[in-house]
Amino acid sequence: MRTPIVAANWKMHKTVKEAADYFRRLLELVPARPPVELVIFPPATILWMAQKHLGGSAVAWGAQDAYPEPQGAFTGEISVVQIADLGAKYLICGHSERRHIFQEDDRLVGRKVGAALESGLIPILCVGERLEEREAGRAWQVVEGQLAAALAELELPSPAKLVIAYEPVWAIGTGVPARPEDAQEMAARIRDWLRERFGKAGAQVRIQYGGSVKPENAREFLTLPDIDGALVGGASLDPDKFWAIAQAATS
Ligand code: 13P
Repeated sequence: MRTPIVAANWKMHKTVKEAADYFRRLLELVPARPPVELVIFPPATILWMAQKHLGGSAVAWGAQDAYPEPQGAFTGEISVVQIADLGAKYLICGHSERRHIFQEDDRLVGRKVGAALESGLIPILCVGERLEEREAGRAWQVVEGQLAAALAELELPSPAKLVIAYEPVWAIGTGVPARPEDAQEMAARIRDWLRERFGKAGAQVRIQYGGSVKPENAREFLTLPDIDGALVGGASLDPDKFWAIAQAATS
């Protein structure tokens, strides 16, 4: 049984005041035992607030990125260990904006996944092809390469210790989501790959879809057989919309 996981990636949005209003409203909406796992990924400036507002609630939180070295001379970076120390549960690794705007390569993404697990965080590994790669019929090849590179060294202690987010780059922030049948096909391939790589535990790893998910289309994705949740950007900035999306996972 794979509990759906619906996550809000705020990206570089929200001030302290805006975040406080969001947390308050979200906690009004979410029951004590929601049927869906909810995770908020605020920017680094808000992580302490997530701990303060969400600690002890049914809503988990994590960081959008972190550096794999535990400490050292890495100006501007925050380590995986420091994120874990704050009480975070999850870490996004290899988001397409990190890969494409900040030139993160597969090797660094893999180090982040490994460091997250070592620190007790659950990595959400993001994979996804660009439009030209899909048009050239290379979507699976690209995603498989990203999975293989990031998970090469990994041992998976349990399926709960890893989440994969399939986010086609061309669907992120464009208002044009993938076709549900294409998202399902990719998720099924990812699941087969995880089963080959990690055996039975691999087949139970949760796979999210991300890219222009909103309340109006969430059900189309969240009811697909191999999609176990969503990683939501823009629409997650409004707590009512985010909760509406989460509810679609069990409706
Ligand atoms: P949008 O939902 O804004 O398309 O962003 C998706 C995303 O990148 C989540 O990580």
